[in-house]
Amino acid sequence: MNAMTKSHPGIRPDPIRPIISIGTINVDQLMGPIADWPQPGTETVYPDYEMRIGGGCGNFGAALMALDAHQHIVVNVGKDAMGDWLCEQFGPLADHWHRSDTVTSVTFGLTHPDKERTFLSNEGHSSIFDAKMVREMLSETRVDGAIALFVGTFLMPGLLPDCASLMKELHDSGAIVALDTAWPTGGWSDDVQTHLESWLGYVDILLINDAEASGILGIAQTEFARDIETYLARIADKLPSDAIIVVKRGAAGATAFAGGNILHVPVPGPVDVVDTVGAGDCFNAGFLMALQMQAALPDALRAGIEVAGKAIASNPRKYPEISDLCPDVAAVLSAPVPTGEEIMTFDQVENS
Ligand SMILES: Nc1ncnc2c1ncn2[C@@H]1O[C@H](COP(=O)(O)OP(=O)(O)OP(=O)(O)O)[C@@H](O)[C@H]1O
Ligand SMILES: [Mg+2]
Repeated sequence: MNAMTKSHPGIRPDPIRPIISIGTINVDQLMGPIADWPQPGTETVYPDYEMRIGGGCGNFGAALMALDAHQHIVVNVGKDAMGDWLCEQFGPLADHWHRSDTVTSVTFGLTHPDKERTFLSNEGHSSIFDAKMVREMLSETRVDGAIALFVGTFLMPGLLPDCASLMKELHDSGAIVALDTAWPTGGWSDDVQTHLESWLGYVDILLINDAEASGILGIAQTEFARDIETYLARIADKLPSDAIIVVKRGAAGATAFAGGNILHVPVPGPVDVVDTVGAGDCFNAGFLMALQMQAALPDALRAGIEVAGKAIASNPRKYPEISDLCPDVAAVLSAPVPTGEEIMTFDQVENS
């Protein structure tokens, strides 16, 4: 790694900039419960059905919208009724979205009595999302000081080859680049690792779960759990020196690694979990919004945990508004927006 990609003089999360998200959005159609796989050629009727916003950017954007965050969503959708429906859900936030001349990506989520789910997706618009569309939509906002999250990147083959240059451009323009790798569909192949290697030097905030951390390191999850600090330090070596790694850990909460220090925040109380789809994206929304609002790292982790906890306890899915959150987190996410000199540098936020 060269010195240029290891330092960030002057990068600031600026609360007056939007949180930018670049990635996948689709329509989720959830149906079930399906106990036995139907015979081909038959028809079965199931009692439960829900149609909702899906995809990493979709979940993240919907969670931020409920929190009334300042955001700029960089996605494409198809030119069809499903694409219209997605645009309607986001109102003016969708005004600049690229409408691709193809069908919208839809995922059928089949629920099973044991709460497992099986997902079936068509290629649709996500497969043709590309860097030209991203640059066009980014040109409509200021990126300096903005947090820019890449999510669902491995699901967009048209974007993948240009991700490194997009991240570099954002990084060089003063944006704080965040990446949620998610689990790559085909696993942690050499190809996936090569892409990651070319990105990590520009990634200021890496958002992963335990399994993904292990995948990046090429080790078993049990091995990762044995010495999380050492292993996160190994990933941190690939990132800029002031980067933050966040490991999302399901019912155990979340762990951050920043400046050589590890910090764990547990889930504070019981959560009546009914639907964990998008838990990670909701965590990202609370966490990144808190950073945008100048929160200290422990408060940002608590915000991520609170937003995710409220979302996964709802059915049908309801993303929490500020007034639904516990008072401490509500205060962090609704702090008055500072101006001018009051804006803290990225270093100050990280070390506070
Ligand atoms: N069973 C649970 N009980 C309480 N909180 C949970 C539970 N599952 C998830 N969460 C909350 O949601 C956050 C994100 O979930 P998780 O750790 O599963 O991330 P993820 O694996 O990235 O999720 P996703 O599958 O949506 O990508 C956790 O850090 C935690 O705060
Ligand atoms: Mg995830």
